Amino acid sequence: MGLPWIGETYEFYKAQRNNKVFEEFVEPRRTKYGNIFKTRLMGSPTVVVNGAFANRFFLSNEFKLVVSSWPSASVQLMGPNSIMEKQGDQHRRIRGIVSSSLTCNGLESLVPKICSSVEMHLKRHWQGLGTISLFRSTKMLTFSIVFECLLGIRVEHGMLEMFERVLEGVFAIPVDCPGTTFWRAKRARMEIEEMLLNIIRKKRKEIEESPGLEEKEGVLLSGLVVGLIQGEISEAEVVDNVVLLVFAAHDTTSFAIAMVCRMLAHHPRCYARLLQEHMEIKSSKNVGETLTLEDTKKMKYTWQVARESIRLFPPIFGSFRKAIVDIEYEGFIIPKGWKVLWTTYGSHYNEEHFTDPQTFKPSRFDEPIAPYVYVPFGGGPRICAGYQLAKFNILIFLHYMVTLYDWSLIHPDEPITMDPLPFPCHGMPIKISPKL
Ligand code: HEM
Repeated sequence: MGLPWIGETYEFYKAQRNNKVFEEFVEPRRTKYGNIFKTRLMGSPTVVVNGAFANRFFLSNEFKLVVSSWPSASVQLMGPNSIMEKQGDQHRRIRGIVSSSLTCNGLESLVPKICSSVEMHLKRHWQGLGTISLFRSTKMLTFSIVFECLLGIRVEHGMLEMFERVLEGVFAIPVDCPGTTFWRAKRARMEIEEMLLNIIRKKRKEIEESPGLEEKEGVLLSGLVVGLIQGEISEAEVVDNVVLLVFAAHDTTSFAIAMVCRMLAHHPRCYARLLQEHMEIKSSKNVGETLTLEDTKKMKYTWQVARESIRLFPPIFGSFRKAIVDIEYEGFIIPKGWKVLWTTYGSHYNEEHFTDPQTFKPSRFDEPIAPYVYVPFGGGPRICAGYQLAKFNILIFLHYMVTLYDWSLIHPDEPITMDPLPFPCHGMPIKISPKL
């Protein structure tokens, strides 16, 4: 359990900063104590669990045995009304509204919107340049996709920077004194709140003045505002859930795209096969015709490459739960109030589930994978609500990137760091040249 109160927090943070939570924190303890071990992190006694059985047990028992548990700074910055803080019926209610635009059908209309965002982005930020920062570029792109395509809110200058300042504080010590990271993040959150309240009230007026507008627009913000008008959701819940969605969506997806590109650069044969898949799709389209949902379904190999990259480099390595009752698990009692940390590594890097787990092998996804083995999007009632959006975002971006540009990594082995989410530490610069 380490030192009183502090426990092994320092070791955990150090491993996290190096993006080596598995190698430097989980694996040495798992080797010593087995698949389940206890420690103390950030003041809380915590049980770390590993493997598909543990994933199923803890993720599917959300609300019954455990509830999701975020640090105080995250809750204050995301807002106490966001979906991640809701339980039971309240969670189902918010999730229903959020999911309505994020299911496969709702997303069908999003495919052309995502295509034009990607095309526009490449024109503005890639055209005429020889080198770009891929991670910075995909961050800007995924940020504008979630705002403009999903929510229907125009991205204004400085918005991404405001959100980034909040993100810097989500795992900081929650000391609200001038000069601290948390203080800066809280100020940025207040600015965001003010901006969103103006947008929400304007949208409310528009919908009240022209009923039916929301269906025509078909964007998530309109759905949330209709819920607000009908009294199903409060204004504070709309604000907090918009903030949460933006965070949940943009850094995760941009890191996933960056890692797919890294893997493609390291595995030229996989890249050749993926490129062929996209060239075939491109040649079936007329000039200027955008992709459809059907086209994305043809990107089977690309999705295998993406899944394999995400298995090796999960944007979210796991998350904390809190026991709401004493839990009997594998012959141990986890006392009520203790934290439980499940990790993707526990099954993704496990020989029993993936042979030669450190090898990049997209073809392993030719075979179906058993439930709760592959969990980069979580599982159970809190499984990622944006899975489909993330998938389309990755597939569509790769389509345009590989069909329009030749590219290569400037630092093929660029280290990955984490603060609080993983990112390539030089921003992943790449050389680009338009395909002739
Ligand atoms: C590659 C990209 C992504 C990854 C790897 C990812 C991963 C995850 C994971 C692991 C969880 C579960 C966390 C837990 O159990 O504590 C989650 C939840 C969530 N994700 Fe994602 N996500 C991605 C993209 C997105 C996108 C694009 C959106 C939205 C537009 C989104 C929205 C959400 C929401 C709303 C939740 C909370 C669900 C709930 O509590 O019911 N995610 N995500």
